[in-house]
Amino acid sequence: MYIMSETCSFYAEKCENIRPTLISLQPETAALWHDIETTCFQAPWSMESCSDFLTERTNHAWAFSLDSGKTFIGAAALQVLPPEAELLRLAIKEPFRRHGYGRQFMTALIKWLRDEGVNQMWLEVRVSNEPAISLYESLGFKRNGLRKRYYKNNGEDAYTYGRTI
Ligand SMILES: CC(C)(COP(=O)(O)OP(=O)(O)OC[C@H]1O[C@@H](n2cnc3c(N)ncnc32)[C@H](O)[C@@H]1OP(=O)(O)O)[C@@H](O)C(=O)NCCC(=O)NCCS
Repeated sequence: MYIMSETCSFYAEKCENIRPTLISLQPETAALWHDIETTCFQAPWSMESCSDFLTERTNHAWAFSLDSGKTFIGAAALQVLPPEAELLRLAIKEPFRRHGYGRQFMTALIKWLRDEGVNQMWLEVRVSNEPAISLYESLGFKRNGLRKRYYKNNGEDAYTYGRTI
């Protein structure tokens, strides 16, 4: 774990010559996350929702960078109430997908959550979202429920997944 400042915690993993970096976001840096939202989701959170989310003590968002924080290729948002946490958003920008970054990002988040005293993680995923389902199942998440018409934009169902971490 690398602490850059009071507002930026860095969790880094080696990947060939690249050293991915995770940056903890604050309401004033929510635009970094919102940019990822608008390019990665069919129903993106608004800028206001992103910055409001970050005003709650139990809410956290991270941005994922390959160039030490100059640009960002992914973002994640979580609600953390130790010993449990819920993953609310996870995205990697299109040109960077299928390079293992989503898995690296999740692995780093899980490490951080353990440091925060979390031992149980939950998430929901659209039933049609095969890439995300495959990622979560490959990381050991187990499907444990179905939420009918969970997504407001198109009434799609959600699977719920959980994992002890
Ligand atoms: C889901 C997402 C984060 C995966 O990111 P990624 O960086 O492409 O994932 P990785 O390259 O680390 O892939 C890890 C595993 O995920 C699965 N996976 C990723 N993309 C996949 C695809 N298009 N089809 C099938 N499986 C896929 C595979 O199991 C893969 O392992 P493998 O490469 O050994 O086969 C990315 O597709 C994304 O941002 N999607 C849009 C936003 C979204 O749907 N987020 C999830 C909300 S719950």
